[in-house]
Amino acid sequence: MNDKTNAQQWSENIGSTGRALLDEWGPQIDATSDLAELDRIRVGLIGKSGVLTQKLRELPTLPPEKRRDAGLELNTVREILEKKLSDIKLKLESIEFDNILKQEYLDVTLPCRPQQAGKRHLLTQISDELTLYFCSRGFKVFEGPEVDTEFHCFDGLNMPAHHPARQEQDTLYIKDAPGKLLRVHTSTMQIRAFSTCGLPIRGISIGSVFRNDAVDATHTPLFHQIEGFVAEPGITMAHMKYCLLDLLSFLFKVDLCEMAERGEDIPVRFRPSFFPFTEPSVEIDCCCSRGNDELKLSMDGTWMEILGCGMIHPNVFKNCGVESFADGTPAQGFAFGIGIERIAMLKYGVTDIRHFYDGDMRWLQHYG
Ligand code: DAH
Repeated sequence: MNDKTNAQQWSENIGSTGRALLDEWGPQIDATSDLAELDRIRVGLIGKSGVLTQKLRELPTLPPEKRRDAGLELNTVREILEKKLSDIKLKLESIEFDNILKQEYLDVTLPCRPQQAGKRHLLTQISDELTLYFCSRGFKVFEGPEVDTEFHCFDGLNMPAHHPARQEQDTLYIKDAPGKLLRVHTSTMQIRAFSTCGLPIRGISIGSVFRNDAVDATHTPLFHQIEGFVAEPGITMAHMKYCLLDLLSFLFKVDLCEMAERGEDIPVRFRPSFFPFTEPSVEIDCCCSRGNDELKLSMDGTWMEILGCGMIHPNVFKNCGVESFADGTPAQGFAFGIGIERIAMLKYGVTDIRHFYDGDMRWLQHYG
């Protein structure tokens, strides 16, 4: 309906000059089969010194009684030709796109060349191994957002407003989103899991964490952590020790629990530490030496920090609204946090954390 009105309007406005322009340029545009050619026509017509542009520029020099009709006529012609140009342009672009699709057709059913088969990234391998390990021991996997709130990252975890980790030089805050940040640790998942699933609970969460660190051999602004937590009636620090010794035995292929039972010195030490969300807090060091390509735990190596852990602070439970178990006994449990890159670097002798991310195919082939 609208089109018809436009067409009528147009024919009323167009005189012999307009008709001549349409007759000259219309067929040229219609006959174009190439986008570059179409653009040349556009420039010749309505570019800076195009034919129609020139005519429009001359309008003010016409006698006033002719100016209005001539203006209407030229602008109507311009409208018609511009529409034609844009219709043809769309048509030609779609033909060109179809041609590109035809040329770039990819047969996804072709078998790949064996030497190009992908390998799982070292971090993926370790994360998968750890997930399987914990799932086989009754832990559920929790996933949560990387952009989180100050409550989940700090307040809920008993980290007060003046805690140094909350400063902007350590934490990446989201611009124009008050209270939102990139999580600095996966401990956020304790808060999310306790407050949504309640107690008892036994879970892990693996994922990316972010810190405002300059890149060097041991720091990247993005790295990965695994957070584990167990809150069940009767859980004590002894359970935490056993759980983490068993985990280290699995990671480093030794039987630390059996060594401890035999009364031998074990190359693992539990060192008192401080985290706001655990009390008491502990850091675990392993005595490591390197044999062949793999790390060995033995008493004649060097002590290295492996992970942080502790008994979950009562304030954390309180902040999640879970202060007791169903039987009325106070909530209790332990938690731990491990850097995945750190484990990978120790275990496989990777000396520079940047190697995980620089996408060197030789490195990926070697460690994949
Ligand atoms: N969130 C700590 C960090 O990023 C790691 C950690 C330490 C987690 C002790 C824990 C814990 O659950 O108990 O450095």
